[in-house]
Amino acid sequence: MRNMTSKIAIAAATAIGGYVLLIERLPAQAGDELARPTHFESIPDEQKRAIAIFTEMGKVIQHPRCLNCHPQTDRPSQGDGQHPHMPPVQRGPDGLGKAAMACTTCHGEDNFSFGGKRGSVPGHEIWHLAPASMAWQGRSLGEICNQITDPERNGGKSLADLLKHNAEDGLVGWAWHPGDGRTPAPGSQEGFGALTAAWIESGAHCPGD
Ligand code: HEC
Ligand code: HEC
Repeated sequence: MRNMTSKIAIAAATAIGGYVLLIERLPAQAGDELARPTHFESIPDEQKRAIAIFTEMGKVIQHPRCLNCHPQTDRPSQGDGQHPHMPPVQRGPDGLGKAAMACTTCHGEDNFSFGGKRGSVPGHEIWHLAPASMAWQGRSLGEICNQITDPERNGGKSLADLLKHNAEDGLVGWAWHPGDGRTPAPGSQEGFGALTAAWIESGAHCPGD
């Protein structure tokens, strides 16, 4: 009888183990999901693994919610089509906008909805533009990776600072709660943070290295 019980226990454990493996190996759903770090564990080569993870992170990094605030010019862009911001506001000192058109004149501490389909004005505490050295729009994922790991261009951030920023920063997090009328970034900020941690653990290599 004891034997029987342990056989059942082993069978159950194997079934659960297999199920967990199955879930963890499921490919990311197109568009709105992010793969988990465990998805990349089977890649033995560290550099290849890091690049595969960063490529997955690219689904977030190159999403219009992020790119609109990391523009190539001094003007933010808007919408999924990344058209130039209307009105034509400028970066100004510290990315907060020029005096007459400070970002916070229109962008409050929270999204302001016009009611469902009529859209919203995005908002989050201290809404402002990323500095010119952090421009991502129009750049390849490899170029973006090189600049975000370069303390001369990323605002003096170590890899640990970068992880904290991706996992906890509020402007980054806004991309998953962008208000009525806007497509959120894929996955969750938590998932994006977990991928960033796994990428750093695998040596933080960049596509094209
Ligand atoms: C005169 C008002 C006004 C000012 C000033 C202003 N904005 Fe906007 N901004 C808006 C409105 C309204 C929208 C939403 C437009 C829409 O979704 O159709 C918007 C949208 C955006 C978006 C698009 C978000 C997305 O992903 O679609 C970004 C980014 C943005 N603003 C950044 C800024 C920054 C940075 C500044 C300061 C340099 C600024 N804005 C100043 C009114 C303003
Ligand atoms: C409302 C504007 C805004 C949005 C939206 C935004 N950012 Fe940023 N981002 C900034 C500002 C401002 C900085 C500079 C602040 C700093 O260095 O602490 C920055 C800096 C960064 C940095 C630092 C390193 C570098 O070289 O760029 C990373 C990484 C980053 N953002 C990631 C993201 C990601 C990922 C998203 C989308 C999920 C995003 N941001 C969306 C405004 C924004």
